[in-house]
Amino acid sequence: MTIDQTALKREVARAAIRYVKPGAVLGVGTGSTVDLFIDELAAIRDSIPACVSSSVRSTKRLEALGFKVLDLNEVEEIEVYVDGADEIDPHFAMVKGGGGALTREKIVASVSKRFVCIADASKSVDVLGRFPLPVEVIPMAARSVARRLEALGAKVALRDFTTDNGCAILDASGLSIQDPAALEDEVNSWPGVVTVGLFARRGADVLLLGTAEGVKTFER
Ligand code: 5RP
Repeated sequence: MTIDQTALKREVARAAIRYVKPGAVLGVGTGSTVDLFIDELAAIRDSIPACVSSSVRSTKRLEALGFKVLDLNEVEEIEVYVDGADEIDPHFAMVKGGGGALTREKIVASVSKRFVCIADASKSVDVLGRFPLPVEVIPMAARSVARRLEALGAKVALRDFTTDNGCAILDASGLSIQDPAALEDEVNSWPGVVTVGLFARRGADVLLLGTAEGVKTFER
């Protein structure tokens, strides 16, 4: 990551603060952009009763700053979820999971009323697929799922990583994803797949994009 990219991430992290609803439980994602967002949150800690986090990494960072972190089972609904993305397209569909937290991210997003995506300009693409698509799998299904991805034309690598759920991640590169929702449904239906890192069925509602000209806001 270049220094410029870090500066853009910090700007969107700061811009996301105005979307936080005082008095409501906040959903917090995972990644380097979210790390910066958590740092910014410290200034308004007293207005946030609790957070739900999408990873052990974010939970630790939040708790170190004095935030209360709840298990999702203790919460019925989340007003706002703030998270990053590896890619986002003009329809607000995303590839996520570069940090390996895709399953918990998808769960928290599914119960959130508003998904605010914070990303630097490099993440904005016309067609998803330049960034290798992460797929979390039950370890014994790694090869069988990899073969199915290869049949779609992907080159597949097993990440040297174990998720917070004790599972493995395949990174599928070389896919040009013309219909993200259809591919999300298909890959999710394969035996052994825990989650595919396509967020098309539940995409973002707001995109804060850090550009050289400042933070651009897109809403749908
Ligand atoms: C983690 C994610 C992240 O949101 C994504 O990888 C973006 O990360 P970063 O903010 O470090 O660029 O999906 O699983």
